[in-house]
Amino acid sequence: MPNFANPFQGNVDRKMTKEELIQAIRLDIAGELEAIYLYESHVLATDNAAAKKVIADIRDEEKAHVGELMSLLKILDPEEAEHFASGETEVAEMMENLNIQIPEAKETSNPDESTHKTVGSLIKE
Ligand SMILES: [Fe+2]
Repeated sequence: MPNFANPFQGNVDRKMTKEELIQAIRLDIAGELEAIYLYESHVLATDNAAAKKVIADIRDEEKAHVGELMSLLKILDPEEAEHFASGETEVAEMMENLNIQIPEAKETSNPDESTHKTVGSLIKE
């Protein structure tokens, strides 16, 4: 648990090796998953509409963080990425045998992009 009263606690005297960084990313992913679990439990445990809305939004941001960190982990450790891909293929085969379609992940655009005007978007076609 961090000791926020100590401003030097987070300082380290060296940079991580690549292997240590990979381990740190795995720990970061675990932290994001724990945060999702906690936020979801709070959403489920309240009927306060405002709290549900805000906490659910934060929970979803943590899910995006998992995606970012998983992508980074695959870049840092391509061998691990092959294991992830192998697992995905195994599940896809199981679902195919059960005639269950795997839903495609929807590409969620940045909400700012849809309303953000650029020079190009002002040109009439
Ligand atoms: Fe996060």
